[in-house]
Amino acid sequence: NSKKIISVLLVVALVMSMFALTSCKKEEDVLTVYTNAEFPPFEYLSDNKPVGVDMQIAQAIADELGMKLEIKNVKFDTILTSISSGKGDLGIAGITVTPERAESVNFSENYITSTQYMVIKNDSEIKTIEDLAGLKIGVQLGTTGDFIISDEISGTEDEETGEHIKGVLEGTGATVTQYNSAADAAVNMDSGKVDVVVIDMLPAEIVAGQYDNFKAIELVYADGSKTDESYAVAVKKGNKELLDTVNKVINRLIEEGKIDKWVVEHTTQSSKG
Ligand code: ARG
Repeated sequence: NSKKIISVLLVVALVMSMFALTSCKKEEDVLTVYTNAEFPPFEYLSDNKPVGVDMQIAQAIADELGMKLEIKNVKFDTILTSISSGKGDLGIAGITVTPERAESVNFSENYITSTQYMVIKNDSEIKTIEDLAGLKIGVQLGTTGDFIISDEISGTEDEETGEHIKGVLEGTGATVTQYNSAADAAVNMDSGKVDVVVIDMLPAEIVAGQYDNFKAIELVYADGSKTDESYAVAVKKGNKELLDTVNKVINRLIEEGKIDKWVVEHTTQSSKG
């Protein structure tokens, strides 16, 4: 009879909503942060665990939210898709804000500025990016260093006119090889497979410091211009509440001088290894 059906339905609905509540709660307890622990001092492995400036920022955000932090160490070029698809909550990986990336995720406020560097041999005469003409250049796949070098080798298209803009390395015979990390690229530079490695400043200085005959210099153009990048946390589009909390924590950490302090600490620590 209908009374029986209604009460069965009610019970079913009740059980289902209980399930929904508990599973929801479970998810809310864990903040999942995607990174690529190949980028000291921002993220690197210590005892097989990702640590570094960004991981301290991640912990501060998790603490603010009262959540448990879970870190996923993945390939750098997969991080933003994992955030835009909702697989992970935050991408914290020294990620440079670019207009293209901002189409797929929201970025927090900037917490660090940087520029690109070139890791070269001590006795190298290289001074500008133009000096990389004809050379084999190693980069980390999907990083801004990769984009800059690849664009200078292939040239770009003017967005409005569609006209080809010649890159400074175009037609010089320069080639780019994409590695999973700057450390990998450096190993290949040591063995002679590439001539130079292009990566952000601090990771460049740290990796160069691991070889007696390597040094790191800023990537400048012959006309004196430089690259200029800011790192921010990637959040899924539309997740305003989380973005607000991230910004609140970042502003607090900057004000307290924590980020600068962590940069110094982790530069020292990651340079030891
Ligand atoms: N800042 C550069 C970029 O956004 C490099 C970041 C690499 N980060 C990493 N964890 N491997 O492309």
